[in-house]
This record gives sequence, C-alpha cells and structure tokens, in this order.
Amino acid sequence: MKIRSAPSSKDLSRSELVVGFAHEKGKPTLAGVLADAVTHADRTGDVARGARKWSLFHPPLRARGPQRLAFVGLGKAEELDSENLRRAVAVAQLNAENAGVEDFDLVLGEADHKGLDAFDAGLVVAEGLELGAYRYQPPKKDDHKPRKAQDCAVHYVGRHRADFEAGLRLGRIGAVATNWARDLENMAPNHADPARLARAAKGLAAGSLKVKVMERAELEKLGMGALLGVARGSSKPPKLIVMDWNPRGARKTVCIVGKGLTFDSGGISIKPSAKMDEMRYDMCGGGAVLGLFHAIAHGALADAVQKTRIVGVVAAVENMPDADAQRPGDVVRAFDGTTIEVLNTDAEGRLVLCDAIAWAIKVYEPQKLVDLATLTGAVIVALGHECAAVLGNDQSLVQELIDAGKAADEPLWQLPLWQEHKKQLESKFADLANINGQHHGGGTIAGAAFLAHFVGKTPWVHLDIAGTAWGGRSKEYANLGATGTAVRTLLHWVRSLK
Ligand code: BES
Ligand code: MN
Ligand code: ZN
Repeated sequence: MKIRSAPSSKDLSRSELVVGFAHEKGKPTLAGVLADAVTHADRTGDVARGARKWSLFHPPLRARGPQRLAFVGLGKAEELDSENLRRAVAVAQLNAENAGVEDFDLVLGEADHKGLDAFDAGLVVAEGLELGAYRYQPPKKDDHKPRKAQDCAVHYVGRHRADFEAGLRLGRIGAVATNWARDLENMAPNHADPARLARAAKGLAAGSLKVKVMERAELEKLGMGALLGVARGSSKPPKLIVMDWNPRGARKTVCIVGKGLTFDSGGISIKPSAKMDEMRYDMCGGGAVLGLFHAIAHGALADAVQKTRIVGVVAAVENMPDADAQRPGDVVRAFDGTTIEVLNTDAEGRLVLCDAIAWAIKVYEPQKLVDLATLTGAVIVALGHECAAVLGNDQSLVQELIDAGKAADEPLWQLPLWQEHKKQLESKFADLANINGQHHGGGTIAGAAFLAHFVGKTPWVHLDIAGTAWGGRSKEYANLGATGTAVRTLLHWVRSLK
C-alpha cells in the first residue's frame, strides 16, 4: 500500500474517491474541504454516522468535483479512541477497494482524532490503511490480479502537521513489518520451515543489526538437549536465529525470545487431525520477534533516544512424529543442565524456549527478557481471542508490557504465577516434568511456571499469544489468518526503553 501525505490545499476535484469521517452529532465536515459536495450529500439524509458505517455518494452529473464522495462513521464522540479510528480507516480502505478505484484521498481533521495527539493519529491512520489492506497472496498457478485502492493520499487538516506526518511514517514502518511477519505466519508449513525463517532474518541484517543462525551441530555442542529433543522427529534441521541490534553507546541489553515452531503436529503425543493445519501458526511468537526486527531494520528507532542493545532470538523447529522422535517418558538434559522428563511431546514450545532463554541469559546477561509464544490452547479457553496472557517474575516489567500493549491496542491480561504452580512440575524421573498433572488445571500458568525455572533472577515476562495470533473476528484490519500480533506491542515497548 502506498501512503502519501498530501498538502491540505490539494485540489480534490479530480479524485476518483474522497473519504471523510462523519460523527454521530453535527454536520459532516470533511474537515472543511468540498463544502458544497458535503452539503449536497448531507441533504439526502444518507450520511451514515454509526461507528464504521460506510456511505457512498455520486455528485450530480456535470458538477465539478470528485467522482465519488464517501464517509466512514465514527459514532459517538466518547467512543472515539485509537482502536476505533484504526478500524474506521481500515473500513475506508476496504470499501475503496470494493468500489474499484485505483487510488483514493482520505481527509482527516482534528475533530476526527479527539483525545489523540496528532502523532498518534498519524500512527493509527497508517496502521488502519496498511494492516487493513493486507491480504495473504497464496501461491497459485495464475498470476494475481493487481489490487485496487492500494494508493492513498492522506490530507491532514490540523495544526500539528509535522507530528501527524511523523506518526504516519512510524505507523507505516510498524504496519509493513507486521504484514511481513503475517506473510511468514500464513505461509504453508512446508514452505515456511526453519530454514525459511532463518533466511528471512538474514535478509534484515545491515548496519547496527547483525544476524546469525546457529545450526544443529552448534546447538549439540552447546548441549541444548531440550530443543534438540523436539527437533529429533523432523527431517528439517532446527535453527536458532539471533538478531542483534547493537547501537553505538548501548549500555543496557534486553532479550526477546520467540517460539518458532514452524509446524506442531504434537509429535508422538500427536494432535487430532481437525484443524491441525492451524499449527502453521505455532511460529507466531517468532514471527513477532522477526517483525520487530524488520521494523528496526527499516528505521523504527531512527528518532528514538534509547540506547539499549536489543537481542532477538527465534527458536525455529518443527515438531514431528518420526521413528526417531522423542517419546513420552524420555528424559533430556537442557542447556543449563536441568534434566526434563518429557511427559507429553506436544508440550514442546517450553522445551525449545527453555534452551533459547537460558542461552540468551548466559551469553547476553540482559537486564530484561521477554518471551512470546503460542504456548497453550488453554489460554484461548481462559481469555479468548481479544487479549494475550502476560505472566512474569517482575511486576514492574509486567507493567511495562501491559502499558505497551495498551498503547498498541493489543491488550494483555495478567495471570498469576506462584510457588505452588512451580511445585506442580516436580518429576519422579528428572528435575522437572514438562507438564503439570491434569487435576491441577491452569495449563497456561503451568507453561509459564516451567519457563520460570530457566530464567532465574533475570526480570522476565512471558506472553502467551495463542489466542491473539489468529482466529479473532472483531477487527477489520486483522481478521484474515495471522494477525501479526505483538509486533506493535514490542515496538512500543522498545521505543519506551531508556
Ligand atoms: N502450540 C500448542 C498450543 C496451541 C494449541 C495453540 C492449540 C493454539 C491452539 C502447544 O505446543 C501445545 O500443544 N500445547 C499443549 C500443552 C499440553 C500438552 C500441556 C496444549 O495446549 O494442549
Ligand atoms: Mn504442542
Ligand atoms: Zn506448539
């Protein structure tokens, strides 16, 4: 999608389509432009004002002015917030595409972003357009038809134009990165395999961003028995992808670790076949980390004052049931020496993460560590698709992530993580079992409790994104396949680091 900021004085009379916003109360204004055409449309009584309602008008024959005029409703003033504006903008793009126009003009005035500053308004507008225009293009025999409405000129009518444009730029960087991650997430699991993720990461390396990929032999030498145990059943070798953003003068380090299961069959504890194809999305934690680094590689921190080294680690592995696959009951030795009884080979995410996390802590000694994973089906039972779960060992870091999620409109909801939960993982045959007993319940907490064992005292937060990575239906800009969840949250978080 092409997004341009157009001068507010631009002549709109030749536009194929001009889109403005209509509020519940008051005359639609189109921010003061095209007053005659707006008056004409309003006279029909057909300007829809409810949130996200679309109304399209054709000016009378021979009238001077744009070919079409449309409004997206913003509803009640008190409901106008960043998420509702983002959704309204996505509705504009969607309908412009359905109208079949090549390009369109979007007019936004200050009254259309009440409660948001101009920078945030620009950010949200870019996200609504770019995320809303995303469609996964599956590989097909015939070429794809070129898409309509992939070019939008945004006319901002307000006092803080430079701020709006800066927001527009950053919003676009984050949204393009999110869509890039969505492509990897949606791709068929035979295509988006660990090697493919590694290649995607390598393509980001430049300047302060270094990328290395650790191969199986190296992981064996390091003793990552838990991660390697999961990889055993697959013919696809595992890759530990490390992206290292190390700006000059950095004095602190944070690590962000993502679960990158490119396919999770369950292994010998095999999953039922219904919807097993959805386990292509089991790399969405890794997808979020990759997306963050795509944004960083494309300038998302160019204006930020932060001086923190950011290390992203993606454990890219496939979980398959081969003759040589690990068995329920196998005992493996993790990177940090802990022995683990693998009672269920389908609880594999924690097995790859525990090695990636322990290694990242040992090598980079971060002040903060965040991991993201589609770790448990239980989180969907507990919280549904509208928020992800957050758990951790450091309340102020938990709060940092909750704040970042709020700023990104990707809400997080905290679950408890107590000593009792850690005790549930005691094993008769090893230091630790990889699942708790069924009678305990609380599967999402158990997953986090397992990881807690490997982070020690490092301030750490775990996000279980199995509910938000795909399957939600409520957002016009994210209801087709993978959502690219958490890229925006991570971006807000790293930009807030001092
Ligand atoms: N990748 C799955 C979690 C998952 C399942 C996400 C369904 C979204 C939808 C994870 O590896 C897994 O299989 N977890 C098990 C854990 C159980 C064996 C303790 C689960 O949730 O059933
Ligand atoms: Mn699994
Ligand atoms: Zn999994």
